[in-house]
Amino acid sequence: MVKLSKRLKRIADYVPMGTVVADIGTDHALLPSFLVQERLVPAAVAVDVSPGPLEIAQKQVRALLLADRISVRLGDGLTVINPGEVQTVVIAGMGGATIKKILTQSPQVVDKLQRLILQPNVAAEFIRSWALHNNWKIIDEEIVFEDGRFYEIIVLEPGKMELEDDIFLFLGPKLVEKFHPLLVDYLKRQKAGDQEILDELIKSTGQGAKEKALAIKEKWEKIGQVIKCRFNVEI
Ligand SMILES: C[S@@+](CC[C@H](N)C(=O)[O-])C[C@H]1O[C@@H](n2cnc3c(N)ncnc32)[C@H](O)[C@@H]1O
Repeated sequence: MVKLSKRLKRIADYVPMGTVVADIGTDHALLPSFLVQERLVPAAVAVDVSPGPLEIAQKQVRALLLADRISVRLGDGLTVINPGEVQTVVIAGMGGATIKKILTQSPQVVDKLQRLILQPNVAAEFIRSWALHNNWKIIDEEIVFEDGRFYEIIVLEPGKMELEDDIFLFLGPKLVEKFHPLLVDYLKRQKAGDQEILDELIKSTGQGAKEKALAIKEKWEKIGQVIKCRFNVEI
């Protein structure tokens, strides 16, 4: 039986039962193998751009006798998916900018989807901004803490979304709305990372360093205000 990590299990929980799912950047094809083996979905497509992981995925799928229900494909993002072939897409374990690029380059496939489950390792604001401008709405957000790291999961469905303020692109509107118990700690971790960047920018004489430093400071001032107001804590 396939056993998933806490992060992948939470992602699997968001896959609507009975939909055909594509896992983009599948690596070992663990997620589609679990979903099909547990009969949560009838079929899946496992995609990876690197031949190495894809070979491992292929072996895994054959060893589990799932090759008739999981199609393993070498390719870049959604370019190897036919429009309407799948209803759910998972893209996990990449940066927000890469995920946004994958979505932007295949509008015909994206337009036919019912749900997107995205787990950016960094820069989740790229995904929220893409959703806002492309008629997708956030239906849920989650933070998973595993092996000392925080992972954000963003679940989207077609529809119009409105944001109170652009700062929620960084905060996650649903994470704030549901007072997610890990949000404050997760933000503190991010702030510490940004502080290191800020320290370098302050020392730098390079072009644009001052503006970048100011933008980071302003971002954290705004985040601090929202968190103080909603959670009544200082970050
Ligand atoms: C860190 S792994 C994540 C694996 C799995 N999705 C997870 O969350 O555990 C990222 C995988 O994405 C693949 N990848 C990166 N860019 C891709 C793209 N544009 N299209 C398909 N796969 C991609 C990499 O080859 C790698 O196997």
